[in-house]
Amino acid sequence: MSQFNYREGKMHCEQVALDEIAAEVGTPFYAYSRKMLTDHYTAFDQGFASAPHIVAYAVKANGSLGVVATLARLGAGADVVSAGELYRALKAGVDPQRIVYSGVGKTAEEMAYALRAGILMFNVESVEELEALNNVAAEVGKPAPVALRINPDVDPKTHKYISTGLKENKFGIDIAIAEQAYARAGELPNIRVIGLDCHIGSQLTQLGPVQDAVTRMANLIVALRADGHAIEFLDVGGGLGIVYSREHPPAPTEYAQVVLDAVKDLGVTLIMEPGRFIAGNAGALVTKVLYRKTNGEKRFIIIDAAMNDLLRPSLYDSFHEIKPVAEHSESGSPADIVGPICETGDFLARNREFPEVDQGELLAVLSAGAYGFSMASTYNARPKCAEVLVDGDKFHVIRRRETFEDLIEHETIPTGVV
Ligand code: LLP
Repeated sequence: MSQFNYREGKMHCEQVALDEIAAEVGTPFYAYSRKMLTDHYTAFDQGFASAPHIVAYAVKANGSLGVVATLARLGAGADVVSAGELYRALKAGVDPQRIVYSGVGKTAEEMAYALRAGILMFNVESVEELEALNNVAAEVGKPAPVALRINPDVDPKTHKYISTGLKENKFGIDIAIAEQAYARAGELPNIRVIGLDCHIGSQLTQLGPVQDAVTRMANLIVALRADGHAIEFLDVGGGLGIVYSREHPPAPTEYAQVVLDAVKDLGVTLIMEPGRFIAGNAGALVTKVLYRKTNGEKRFIIIDAAMNDLLRPSLYDSFHEIKPVAEHSESGSPADIVGPICETGDFLARNREFPEVDQGELLAVLSAGAYGFSMASTYNARPKCAEVLVDGDKFHVIRRRETFEDLIEHETIPTGVV
């Protein structure tokens, strides 16, 4: 259930009015509901209760320490795709033995860091990466636990930028050569094969592709075991979709059932890497109306948040529901809700029926907890905004607003140049 609701005419997150947070931290800011993070994690985890499993939260969705730590305390593992994400996960208190490391381009330094940290498993995406990992493991003096990420060649039926399990995508090892790749892994002295991994895409709203992919993986496990590989773990990736507007994604229990049915006789420990499902609806971006104007027929609402704060509408043309923090009864007229950045692509909504809001009013951009702050930048020299974790009737600033000093912190002007 959403924790972003109107109470007495004002949008709250849990029991805290968003305007009270704004009065203290300014705008824009992200607000996350601890209860929603917890409920989503728990619902997902319980869906798989009948089998041994690890819910490895995809840190890329929202890597803020306060968010990852909230999940780590519930027992969540982590799926990381860079040494930086691994660092975040460890700092947030995730047990290294519940961390998997995915990604097509791990460097030798990143591999060594993860190996020393004692992570559960590397999801290796090419034979060349396997050879590189073998060399790093020899140097570090520790065998590398490995799953190969196999590209199942399944169409996930989602946005083309976030579909990953098709042959034409850069991810994973072609399923046609999976057994050869495992044979190579078996020959490498510092590689310890323990699992199999796949991930077909994000914002999945249909179970058919999931069922196809997991069934292919289950069949592959049978073949790999017959080839002599000890496959203990099956990582099925992330991807379960959420409601942004009118989508009908499966419930976590339905998703879990499809996965569990496909692997039921295999005795594997399942790993799932949900990101969006846990964090997406648990966060909102709160912003202030700066100006209103009309250019001919066109109505614009100019706000103090922009594509640098929330890139998804500009990059994927994705929909985020936007509501005034003070409840309006009228539905309004079409408007573009745009930020201050000097690009036409800087919008959070286009042609959206929106009530007449005043200058200074606050708006809440909903379902922004995943791939919101984690994709934020300082484009146009806009300091990154604050993040707040709401917990019942309290809130905690989990990331302060950046300052101008923060913007130039790592820069120097070379002497002699100016
Ligand atoms: N595991 C792997 C290997 C992934 O590549 C991803 C997402 C996940 C797990 C988590 O997927 P989720 O459960 O969150 O769907 N920036 C885009 C989404 C990119 C997803 C990339 N990979 C967006 O804003 O929609």
